[in-house]
Amino acid sequence: RFQRRNRPCRYDIDCFTPSFLSIFESLVPSEEEIAKQKQLLTSLSRLINEEWPNSKLYLYGSCANSFGFSNSDIDLCLSIDDTEISKVDIILKLADILQAGNLQNIQPLTRARVPIVKLMDPETGLSCDICVNNLLAVVNTKLLRDYAQIDRRLRQLAFIVKHWAKSRRVNETYQGTLSSYAYVIMCIHLLQQRRILPCLQEMEATYYATVDDSNCAYFDQVDKLNNYGAHNRDTVSRLLWAFFHYWAYEHDYTRDVISIRTGRIMSKEQKDWTRRVGNDRHLICIEDPFEISHDLGRVVDKFSIKILREEFERAANILQFDSNPITALFEPY
Ligand code: CTP
Ligand code: MG
Repeated sequence: RFQRRNRPCRYDIDCFTPSFLSIFESLVPSEEEIAKQKQLLTSLSRLINEEWPNSKLYLYGSCANSFGFSNSDIDLCLSIDDTEISKVDIILKLADILQAGNLQNIQPLTRARVPIVKLMDPETGLSCDICVNNLLAVVNTKLLRDYAQIDRRLRQLAFIVKHWAKSRRVNETYQGTLSSYAYVIMCIHLLQQRRILPCLQEMEATYYATVDDSNCAYFDQVDKLNNYGAHNRDTVSRLLWAFFHYWAYEHDYTRDVISIRTGRIMSKEQKDWTRRVGNDRHLICIEDPFEISHDLGRVVDKFSIKILREEFERAANILQFDSNPITALFEPY
């Protein structure tokens, strides 16, 4: 495996950039769709505020972190202070409120790991999930969106990686593969290593939030950093090659933890992630930027790690050798 560590990239890699960029463009949601999402947020906020005047509804996940494809579902989080009423009861009451507000296909899922209400809005045709008091997700959504503003190549790379992961069915956490959130963090890590992105959490903080026990602070004046990566001229196809080459041949799965919080590679020793504890096997280690005891690779088991690594190698080899890499890379599994 490690023989291939320093393999140079194929000389003609850059000729695929226009094709990758047109795939990216085809996945980006339209202005019209974004306007509809805002409209739905406004109308739901109004409805819910009548019952809970001190609550606030936030967009999070792909529709707010700028890594969302067109036609994806909307993730909303209701923040509510009421300590008298349990999360499950909030979900049930929310379902009643939505019912009275003429929303459709309302399903409260109170037994899920994260309890949610699902609904469809007949006005906009959009479907969404609402969770309760999951503010860390709102904060990490902002972190991802802020990173995306520093260098456009992050968004391009992450869209293509997500598209690959969905085509190859390795974006299914309930099957032991990785979440979209984890893939975006892996892309940020790569660009930090190449000095295309800084490490915002290591810079002087301009944004602070305390959520549960986590202290979330980082430099968020990203408009001041829009030249940060300009010294590096790598095209998105070269970055894509580097991404797969890293995860296929360079990452040390026995030792390494990637950490965008520190902008470095940490060791499992440092994190005390060397043993299996409960269901956490730490077979691929991706530190959550705020919930730092959280390994985003914890969903991966001894079967799915093989599948994942084979897919990384497949993609790396296609980008290295295939005469028509675009078709092969996204070939449905
Ligand atoms: N999230 C999290 N911790 C995880 C997984 C997800 O905090 N282990 C939160 C993040 O805020 C993330 C959101 O949940 O932005 C949605 O996660 P996910 O569905 O993985 O990502 P999306 O960006 O919504 O991607 P997709 O387009 O595939 O729906
Ligand atoms: Mg989502």
